Amino acid sequence: MLDYVTDKVQDETRQGEAFAPFANDSNEYRKRFYIESYGCQMNFADSEVVAAILNKEGFGATRNVEEADLIFINTCSIREKAEQTVRKRLTEFKKLKEQKKGMLVGVLGCMAERLKSQFLEEEKLVDIVVGPDAYRTLPALVEEAEGGQKAVNVLLSREETYADISPVRLDSNGVSAFVSIMRGCNNMCSFCVVPFTRGRERSRDAESIIHECKDLFEKGYKEITLLGQNVDSYYFVDEKRKETINFAGLLEKVALISPLLRVRFSTSHPKDITDEVLHTMAKYENICKYIHLPVQSGSTRILQLMNRTYTREWYMAKVDRIREIMPDCGISSDIIAGFCTEEEEDHSATLAIMNYSRYDFSYMFFYSERPGTLAQRRYKDDIPENVKKRRLQEIVDVQNRLSLESNKKDVGKTFKVLIEGDSKKNEMEWKGRNSQNKVIVFPKGDHELKKGDYVNVKVTACTQATLLGTIIN
Ligand code: 5AD
Ligand code: SF4
Repeated sequence: MLDYVTDKVQDETRQGEAFAPFANDSNEYRKRFYIESYGCQMNFADSEVVAAILNKEGFGATRNVEEADLIFINTCSIREKAEQTVRKRLTEFKKLKEQKKGMLVGVLGCMAERLKSQFLEEEKLVDIVVGPDAYRTLPALVEEAEGGQKAVNVLLSREETYADISPVRLDSNGVSAFVSIMRGCNNMCSFCVVPFTRGRERSRDAESIIHECKDLFEKGYKEITLLGQNVDSYYFVDEKRKETINFAGLLEKVALISPLLRVRFSTSHPKDITDEVLHTMAKYENICKYIHLPVQSGSTRILQLMNRTYTREWYMAKVDRIREIMPDCGISSDIIAGFCTEEEEDHSATLAIMNYSRYDFSYMFFYSERPGTLAQRRYKDDIPENVKKRRLQEIVDVQNRLSLESNKKDVGKTFKVLIEGDSKKNEMEWKGRNSQNKVIVFPKGDHELKKGDYVNVKVTACTQATLLGTIIN
């Protein structure tokens, strides 16, 4: 599935910050909003749409929550822990609200959709509840709430893609941006709440996507990640041009904007990624050689219960195909430990498929039952927590070893790296990524370089998480 790909990265780097455009002139905007995002990249991208909608109505963003008239929290429901984090944050906002009369708190995103007006009863100090397809109505809802009413809109749509809204880039490094190409999901993996919170799948108008990507490139961005819960099922019929565009076609169009613009995408469902997509990736140097291909489990029996619609063998054949067409392609995964009825044998099959696939990276979770999902209705969440945690730890241990092995293989190689900014630990060093999405840190030296430049870097050493290198002229 999508896009929770950088879940962890975002948790570390972006969460808790609110965003631009920040008017220096305090008279420029009539009200100030603060927005905080949790969960997947799609949520972060949605917050940028929300900011655009609010800006247009005369609301300016602030990074300082205490200065805000409106606080928004864009929420995630994927696991119970994600929801607990949001509830904790809401209790912190409660204190601020008590101090500042007239301050409004709005809950956006998946938790809003899942809990609907129940949220207002549970969390008395929430004033506005808005689901992922109703952001256009935010200004009207704010007005309602200002009038003292509780404002809710959680209608899901079959059409809304916010195609015409030009997102306001929030907290951006000015080099890489996310562009949403579709919304919703039709897959119904049995553990997943997303089809219920984000609704049916729909693809965004291709022209508006290309327009947004071109605009970003003109503004100096060098890397675009096309986002969708299941990008490989992108399908748009352009009535004007009498053209149908699938994901491979869209990728190609974005790649052709400029060879200097890198293209990434997330997430691919193993059942939907086609040879056509793989060949398109291989054809264009600027389409990054990296695929996030969540396996979830290595056991065919569990995959069936998860409704993933592929077998262990089928997945392995897909990995073979990727490596055949692009021998240098990075592959990462999402893995769930302790799904309903999982036996030791199934768990061993997961460890084995990780070794087979040689993932460079994985997001690893233990199963968290979500209300309303197929699994919650059909199966018992019967694996004790200590067993789930032990299995998860074994999965993490295997991944740590695989990541280190993969990085060690890169020592001695030279990569084209896009500079994203200073390294976190040392401003004498740059941090960037290679095509395979691996982070590389290297000394700036006396080269005249800046953020957004490409540079060749030879890897001289590594840790499990990072490659270390030096610039090659
Ligand atoms: N419990 C644990 N992990 C889950 N994921 C989705 N739903 C659940 C759940 N109920 C994981 C999947 C998915 C990733 C984004 O989150 O691995 O690919
Ligand atoms: Fe991803 Fe499956 Fe959930 Fe869709 S239902 S968002 S494919 S995990």
